[in-house]
Amino acid sequence: MILVTGATGHVGRAVVCRLASLGHDVVAMVRDVQASSRRLLSGIVLRVADYQRHK
Ligand SMILES: NC(=O)c1ccc[n+]([C@@H]2O[C@H](COP(=O)([O-])OP(=O)(O)OC[C@H]3O[C@@H](n4cnc5c(N)ncnc54)[C@H](OP(=O)(O)O)[C@@H]3O)[C@@H](O)[C@H]2O)c1
Repeated sequence: MILVTGATGHVGRAVVCRLASLGHDVVAMVRDVQASSRRLLSGIVLRVADYQRHK
């Protein structure tokens, strides 16, 4: 499994698409699930995290 950070950004989206097209098990780290679903391929597993928010 490969976790892609910045997955909704210019670089991250391309990386997610490429890894998924190669058959890798990709998980996208996102801040906003709703916004991410418009920007990423459907079927990509999402995990919510924000570098600015930690406990
Ligand atoms: N683009 C290039 O040509 C290029 C070239 C060399 C190096 N880089 C480097 O590669 C990295 C990504 O570039 P990019 O052009 O893809 O940037 P981008 O399009 O601005 O994307 C930034 C990504 O980081 C996420 N992000 C921002 N703040 C975050 C936080 N606090 N917690 C979690 N995620 C956060 C954004 O999520 P949201 O969607 O939620 O905002 C988005 O997915 C940068 O460090 C940049 O300096 C880029």
